[in-house]
Amino acid sequence: MMEKSLHMEKLRLGVCYYPEHWPEELWENDLKRMQDYGIEVVRIAEFAWNKFELEEGTFTYDFFDRFVTLANKIGMKMIFCTPSATPPAWLTKKYPEVLNAKKDGTVFRHGMRRHYNYNSPIYRKLVSAIVERLAAHYCLNEAIIGWQIDNELNCELDEFYSESDHTAFREYLKEKFGTLAALNKAMGTIFWNQTYTSWDQIFLTRSMIHKGGNNPHMALEEKRFFSHSAISFCKIQADIIRKYAPKGQFITTNGIFNHLDSHEMTDTVLDFITYDSYPDFGFDYETDPQSNGNLKDRYWSCHLSKVRSISPNFGIMEQQSGAGGWDFRMKQPMPKPGQMRLWTYQSVAHGADYISYFRWRTCWVGTEIYWHGLNDYSNMPNRRLGELERIRDEFQKLSCIAGSRYKAEIAFLKDYDNEWDGEQDQWHGPLDRFSAQGWFIAAQRNHTPMDYVYLTSSRMTTVDDLKKYKLLIYPHATILTRQTADLLKSYVEQGGQLIMGARTGYKDEFGRCPMRIMPGFASEICGVTVSDYTSLGPADDMEYAIWDEEMIEAPIFNDILEVRQGAEVLARFKGSYYNGLPALICNRIGNGKAYYFGAGFTARAAALFLKKLGLREPYGDIIRLPEEAELSIRSKNGKDYMFVLNYQPQKIKIALKIPATDLLTGNKVSGEEELYDYGVAVLVR
Ligand code: GAL
Repeated sequence: MMEKSLHMEKLRLGVCYYPEHWPEELWENDLKRMQDYGIEVVRIAEFAWNKFELEEGTFTYDFFDRFVTLANKIGMKMIFCTPSATPPAWLTKKYPEVLNAKKDGTVFRHGMRRHYNYNSPIYRKLVSAIVERLAAHYCLNEAIIGWQIDNELNCELDEFYSESDHTAFREYLKEKFGTLAALNKAMGTIFWNQTYTSWDQIFLTRSMIHKGGNNPHMALEEKRFFSHSAISFCKIQADIIRKYAPKGQFITTNGIFNHLDSHEMTDTVLDFITYDSYPDFGFDYETDPQSNGNLKDRYWSCHLSKVRSISPNFGIMEQQSGAGGWDFRMKQPMPKPGQMRLWTYQSVAHGADYISYFRWRTCWVGTEIYWHGLNDYSNMPNRRLGELERIRDEFQKLSCIAGSRYKAEIAFLKDYDNEWDGEQDQWHGPLDRFSAQGWFIAAQRNHTPMDYVYLTSSRMTTVDDLKKYKLLIYPHATILTRQTADLLKSYVEQGGQLIMGARTGYKDEFGRCPMRIMPGFASEICGVTVSDYTSLGPADDMEYAIWDEEMIEAPIFNDILEVRQGAEVLARFKGSYYNGLPALICNRIGNGKAYYFGAGFTARAAALFLKKLGLREPYGDIIRLPEEAELSIRSKNGKDYMFVLNYQPQKIKIALKIPATDLLTGNKVSGEEELYDYGVAVLVR
């Protein structure tokens, strides 16, 4: 597969700009000031449909032509966007079928954004028309370096229930299953008399007596369909732009959102993915259910790691630069002094080579008047702009970083089927999310860089892709196909280590539970069978297991294990009615080892695994860090660049066992050093 990565010869700064929000007399001053701050690229036009087509079929370009010409003259590059995220009022009034709808059929009205659906034929036609015109008109402009399609596909809402979606769903199912008999079988419609005898009886989920309770196999297929719809909508636009785009002009979109296989979208439609990073949202999260505390803004590194799994080098299309707030969601404070810079380096540390801030100036009208950009309403210098000056100067010293890759010895496996099935399966979903968090926290606090690897159809992951990792963690692959199991088995045979957990392997690709010994295809790999299982209910105490005399928490769901020949019991349950029965089994196959733990993973349990497997703190002999600091390594031409990020409002101590140079200051550092509040160091030996 061709790698879908951003290629930049140096770290670059950009900003989101809305010429349509400001008097034209301000443009030149804005652009020149941007340049003073080191900004080389502006993203424009993603919500500006009316500026091109105020009436159906009448296209005008003069407004953006004036802006593009000016920007070009000043030497500013641009990313041009397609405006499909905000269909104009004339359009939704004349063609209400383009609007999205709720499950109960209530239509979302005009007035916000993302109110459209992906499948309306008329919307696809009108979007194609405007994209065709924009691409033909702007593609050849040298100042335009790339295109962003739409804005944040599946943001705000990731479910679609308009009439057009119901119709398209039927077509999608016909294409996939061919016959009603095949569909009925796959979807288990024999249960509760749901058997379809004609395609027009089929609908996406509609209102049920309960909030859940609908056919779980259809619910899973529905998520696949939502993803398919978004990708095909994106592809229509990308195909048009590609007809006109000269070589080197890229096509991307921004953000990763639910019910969308962003890997498939990038692999099949885009040149690379970009992300919108708003770490202040991390403070919104409720108190962490895990005993190890809340990572807050540091949790954003989890999202950035997932972005990296799509495009090893990516861009940040929107990097938070101010307080966040809409009229109904005003919880995000102004970034503290140093925080905007910290978040910028958080993105860079994970592989971003392009950082574009949201937005140049805080808007003075509309829903986002409280969502702050680099400039305040007053347009006077402020401390965030001061921070930007510092970043500008530092980026000059970091050009060697561009194109370097995040380095990790362990990887967390994920796939969309399990993610989506887990929305319906209340045993699996919460368990999966809990363990994912546990492993992420453990990896963060133990300074063990971790990748995410998605097993998804567009990737065709091979053993060679996996072999670079010493450990793979695939905690609760409830849906586990023979093909994936074979891949994992080869990985272990060739020397890898694999950790799996409770609820593995009991479902097939449609989310059905076939008659077979659990954990299905994982049984042979891990040397286990599951003889009994139970969730831990509200009245149950936390379950534990004992591993070499150490306690290991065994929360949420327990698979009570039996060992298959040749495998070894490492830990036994302690507490419940299965006291003394196997909780953790290790199986040696070929040159590697597979572990099956009959529970979810707390951060403490995950840390214990890292310790026992000798994978904790792989850079511990070079640098010692307190738990509060994040360590990321980017590597190029055999050189490791160590990013140390302090998310705390106070200083922390770090200790270098081998002297290094901080690229940001040029200073030599060795022994014990202090890293100031919200501080960053980029160290190289
Ligand atoms: C992003 C979006 C931007 C802006 C920003 C702040 O999700 O792409 O257009 O809305 O959030 O709310």
